[in-house]
Amino acid sequence: MGATGARGAMLVTLAVAAVALASLWDETREASASLTDLAEAQASLAAAAAAGGSAVPVVARALSARGGVVLYRAAGEASFHRADGETVDAPFLLRAADARRPWVRLERPEAWAVGLPRRMGFAGLAETPAHGVLVVASSARRERDRQSRARWRLVLGAALTCGVMVVLGRAALRVQRDELELREALALAELQRTREDQLAREARAAMMVTFAVGVAHEVATPLNVIAGRAEQLEARSADDRDRRALQAIATQVDRVRDVLRGFLRLARGDTPALGSVGPADVVHAARTLVEHRFTEAGVGLVVEAPDGLAPLRADARLLEQAFVNLLLNACDASPAGAEVRAGTSEDEASVTFWVEDEGAGIGPDDAARVLEPFFTTKGPDRGTGLGLAVTKEIVAIHRGTLALAPRTPHGTRASFTLPRETERA
Ligand SMILES: Nc1ncnc2c1ncn2[C@@H]1O[C@H](COP(=O)(O)OP(=O)(O)OP(=O)(O)O)[C@@H](O)[C@H]1O
Ligand SMILES: [Mg+2]
Repeated sequence: MGATGARGAMLVTLAVAAVALASLWDETREASASLTDLAEAQASLAAAAAAGGSAVPVVARALSARGGVVLYRAAGEASFHRADGETVDAPFLLRAADARRPWVRLERPEAWAVGLPRRMGFAGLAETPAHGVLVVASSARRERDRQSRARWRLVLGAALTCGVMVVLGRAALRVQRDELELREALALAELQRTREDQLAREARAAMMVTFAVGVAHEVATPLNVIAGRAEQLEARSADDRDRRALQAIATQVDRVRDVLRGFLRLARGDTPALGSVGPADVVHAARTLVEHRFTEAGVGLVVEAPDGLAPLRADARLLEQAFVNLLLNACDASPAGAEVRAGTSEDEASVTFWVEDEGAGIGPDDAARVLEPFFTTKGPDRGTGLGLAVTKEIVAIHRGTLALAPRTPHGTRASFTLPRETERA
């Protein structure tokens, strides 16, 4: 039972109280009506006895069986007498007789004075030629007892029902409070768990940055050696094919150095090394880097990169890396034989780099988490879960926005848009 239960118990209690009050009012009206009936019955009885001309002792005997008394005041006398002739001190009866009232209500002392039990009673008055004024009085004790019992029954019933409702209401409130406490405790535990997860992820990300800086530092020396040896060999070599191969080695070593430097700047939070970058060049360079992966997977790659697009000011190597990450995700999501389309387009204010695949798409549960560092659905051997996190950072330092949108009937469109203002950055 929750808040609704407690409210329900309160409403029922109010309803019971209202019904009890209405019944009490009704009972009071009924009681007053039946007392009036009793009084009028006394008046009728007195009138009947007077009209019948019955002797006082006869009427008295008939009434005494029902607990009533008969009094009379002979013509010309100033006080009332019982059937046995004893005088009764009853000024209230004298006043009623003088006023010619058909009946009078007897309060407790008055009832006692005329020989009735000390409870409310009624006296009917009638004039008879033989006995003067004839009074027939009866106690209303039974009627009063009945009324009192009825009232008590009503009050007790209402009190009992209200009591039950109050107990139920309190139980409902307790249950509601327990439920609230439980919900709060669960929410707190969930918050704690989320924060712990987040801290753990941030700690791992910070550790990876440290590793990345360490790796970049360690790799720099062998890279210099490779570049130096390639240059020496190239200088000595007379064969054109060998020289081209050695130049390719030197170019790729330069590229690795650039990428490492870009990542280090990213990790340190420095501004990127901005240069003039042709959007189509970014797309073509990225394609060259991922082509072998598409061939291995049997996935087609169609590129749309018009040459005439105005250059951007950006870190070329980092942009290539961001685009490579989107291309590799599209390749991983595509079944063999599928096709991935990628390209760049512009409007006045911005340049967009986009990749569209026809893979299974990103599930609704994963969508909120794919940008988190280390979130991957590819298993530990196939994905680190850093691709989109790194892409997001690269896009952010170029003041751009990254978007992942589902495609119809299935697949994903991943894109990032860089503002033209980057040119002035
Ligand atoms: N084009 C896509 N189609 C379907 N799922 C995608 C796509 N791109 C990203 N995802 C989902 O987002 C997750 C995170 O991607 P992210 O590039 O950050 O890491 P990864 O690809 O799993 O690993 P890594 O890029 O480090 O090799 C992926 O594991 C995959 O579940
Ligand atoms: Mg990836």
